Amino acid sequence: MRAYSTLEMTNGVSSCWCTAEMCDYCDCRDIGPIGELGAEHDECFRLMAAIRSSLASGDRDAAAASFSVLQLLLVAHLDLEERGIFTELARFGGWHDYLAELSTDHAYVRAELLRVDSATAEPALLLEMLDALKAHVQQEEYDLFPASRLALDDSGWARIAAVHGSARTTEEP
Ligand SMILES: [Fe+2]
Ligand SMILES: [Fe+2]
Repeated sequence: MRAYSTLEMTNGVSSCWCTAEMCDYCDCRDIGPIGELGAEHDECFRLMAAIRSSLASGDRDAAAASFSVLQLLLVAHLDLEERGIFTELARFGGWHDYLAELSTDHAYVRAELLRVDSATAEPALLLEMLDALKAHVQQEEYDLFPASRLALDDSGWARIAAVHGSARTTEEP
């Protein structure tokens, strides 16, 4: 998983230079699906901070409890991104390499972070996974979201919103 770097899209889309922890410099969260994914990113960061704090204080039970919530969130989040915004952007040839990098990140999360037993794993391993996840989320916040805001038109966002809507329907009891 590579560290965050500014994306230079082949279709000429510029990316965001916001330096805040979570980015809304270009108001991209006003777009429904970006707002929803961004809210999940916020929750990821809240949980990652809780896990780091619990590990630092030696409270392994609390760390494991927060880690389990993070794993549950990510199962649905990765799937939603892949079926929604990734699929829509894949319609443009210039995005293929970039999307492949993000998909490789998702494969890492599924193979490592989602499978780890956080109650018994070494804290250093858990922190390493959180660092990798943070880099991925920041890349989506600072590069993917602002660039997709410019790349997609209303019909594209409508298709992504439909995917998000069907996911919500599926999740309802
Ligand atoms: Fe992602
Ligand atoms: Fe994400």
